Amino acid sequence: MVVHIVHGINLGQLGTRQPEIYGTLRLEDQIPIFQTWLDAHFGGTELRSFQSDDEGALCAYLAQHDGSESVFLINPGAFTHQSVALRDAVAALTSPIIEVHLSHTYARESFRRASLLAPFTRGTVSGLGWLGYRLAIEGLLANDQ
Ligand code: DQA
Repeated sequence: MVVHIVHGINLGQLGTRQPEIYGTLRLEDQIPIFQTWLDAHFGGTELRSFQSDDEGALCAYLAQHDGSESVFLINPGAFTHQSVALRDAVAALTSPIIEVHLSHTYARESFRRASLLAPFTRGTVSGLGWLGYRLAIEGLLANDQ
């Protein structure tokens, strides 16, 4: 099984981008921590990370890796609230997918409360920081067993 952690627009700047909201940890530092945790709890499960500011590249990544050996965790960033293309790509998946947000999107500006993707996901985790990623991975793999 492969867990794909997919990040959308502006999330390559985690660590320096609005640290009061998103914290000071960088994506490239966090991924190896998840891999170590995955090895300890779900041995034999591979982790792949993909980040892009390009909506088309995100849609292509999902389509290319869809299948019975894949599960997806996606934090689409601002694409959550406005990308019909990403919504269509998520709707087309056969693999399970969970949407995750570092910040509590329901407690921020009203436009962040709407997700175009959520109806086609298995669930959403919002506001728990990086812990939310581990919970989402557990949800994806537990449902898979
Ligand atoms: C975010 C929330 C989005 O509203 C925002 O546009 C982001 C980050 C989060 O992880 O909290 O870029 O997805």
